[in-house]
Amino acid sequence: QVGEPSQLKALDKFENAADTDYADRAKRDRIQSALKSVRQQFGQTYLPLINGEFVETAEKLKSENPSRFSETVGTIGLISVDQAEDAIASAKAAFPAWKRTSAQERAHILRKAANLFEQRREELIAWMTYEVGKPVKEGDGEVSEAIDFCNYYADEMERLDRGVDYDFPGETNHYRYHARGIVLVISPWNFPLAIPVGMTVAALVTGNCALLKPAETSSVIAAKIAEILVEAGIPAGVFQFIPGKGHTVGAHLVKHPDVHMIVFTGSQAVGCQIYKDAAVLQPGQKHLKRVVAEMGGKNAVIIDESADLDQAVQGVVQSAFGYSGQKCSACSKAIVLEPVYETFLSRLVEATRSLNIGEAELPGTKVGPVIDKEAQNRIQKFIEWGERAGTLVLKMPVPEGGYFVGPTIITDVSADAKIVQEEIFGPVLAVMRASSFQEALDLANGTPYALTGGLYSRTPSHIEQAQADFEVGNLYINRGITGAIVARQPFGGFKLSGVGSKAGGVDYLLQFLEPRVVTENV
Ligand code: SER
Repeated sequence: QVGEPSQLKALDKFENAADTDYADRAKRDRIQSALKSVRQQFGQTYLPLINGEFVETAEKLKSENPSRFSETVGTIGLISVDQAEDAIASAKAAFPAWKRTSAQERAHILRKAANLFEQRREELIAWMTYEVGKPVKEGDGEVSEAIDFCNYYADEMERLDRGVDYDFPGETNHYRYHARGIVLVISPWNFPLAIPVGMTVAALVTGNCALLKPAETSSVIAAKIAEILVEAGIPAGVFQFIPGKGHTVGAHLVKHPDVHMIVFTGSQAVGCQIYKDAAVLQPGQKHLKRVVAEMGGKNAVIIDESADLDQAVQGVVQSAFGYSGQKCSACSKAIVLEPVYETFLSRLVEATRSLNIGEAELPGTKVGPVIDKEAQNRIQKFIEWGERAGTLVLKMPVPEGGYFVGPTIITDVSADAKIVQEEIFGPVLAVMRASSFQEALDLANGTPYALTGGLYSRTPSHIEQAQADFEVGNLYINRGITGAIVARQPFGGFKLSGVGSKAGGVDYLLQFLEPRVVTENV
């Protein structure tokens, strides 16, 4: 009798963590007091965690508050290349015991971490608000996503651990998954909690050892993740927190012969470099590395003549300007069919004008700062290019003292303009005209990226055509294009948006595992 491959069928139901209902006064008070108490903890030093010990470093970095750059949120110790070697050595030593720890036990630690993230929800939101300028509501969603990654990957590992038995009379065939080894996690600052947690716990629950190298600008939040994983019970050496410079320590580890896998989220330039460096077989290396890279997007929303414009305006404003456009999923092109172009544009401009720009911690803030001076300069350059290539229809005034960039809308740009082709990662939206639905799709697909996309339409043939021809990993119809939810909208793209399967989906953990078949003649 052939065994049932359905042993591996997807889980029936997953319960997502609930976001906070800020209509409730007590909950609003709770976040206000967390903001106060976290502010009192500014200026502390956070050290790397290697082999279960916090280690001193020669180099330190100050992490500043982008809403008020005169404030230092915390100081981070950056590891040296020698300390990176220590981390590799202790991961190698810890791996044999960890890979033999049962999947249930590993899953249990993740569920415990999920509970700790929930208990510290307000505090973590407050750190995100201060360290990366994320407004409270967006930070709240991120805590929920981090909790979901822990619980979902815990369930997923238990499902995969059952394997598949293809048994015949006189012969058993056991198909089982095994850990790969050492996983290097290189995480971004824009989702400083959810993305590093997701990538790290995926590596850990599958029995691998993980080294977390966070983006420099979000290292304090990453230090909080490290605290929680240790408290949840991840053993020394199995998880290590290794803040360090990307071009020295990061590059050294990517090329290291003892690293089995690199999981990266960040820019296309860095992702492509990692892919290339990881492909080179180093002396003494006995495996090929796997690279999972999520590298951004240039995402379009199409609005056709049958769209509900109220819905479309709200969805585009939120998708383009939420967290100041600093999401790989953000909308940076609205492509509007001729008959509704003028109406849509004037309503979009009015709706955008009503957004409050300010310090991320203020309750009314809809658009906070961008991450740092370099980002502010880069985005301003894009705005200048856009102004020269087209018409600037909206640029909003901004407060002083932080790295603010006002939501900006530019029209009359051609399909090959820089602001239409390149990822800006800021609150800049190009609004383009299309004379047919096919032309709209061609404009949307006309970049090297394929991450998210949206369509506002009540025309079934357009919806069908978009499903077939819109080249994106996540297509959203009649809703905003950001805020994918674990186990509901598994997230990730293709083309130059990345390689690897979707985070928060049924294939994700398989990337961290090596399947083996054992056949026994009985
Ligand atoms: N997963 C995030 C979103 O969907 C982006 O990383 O917005």
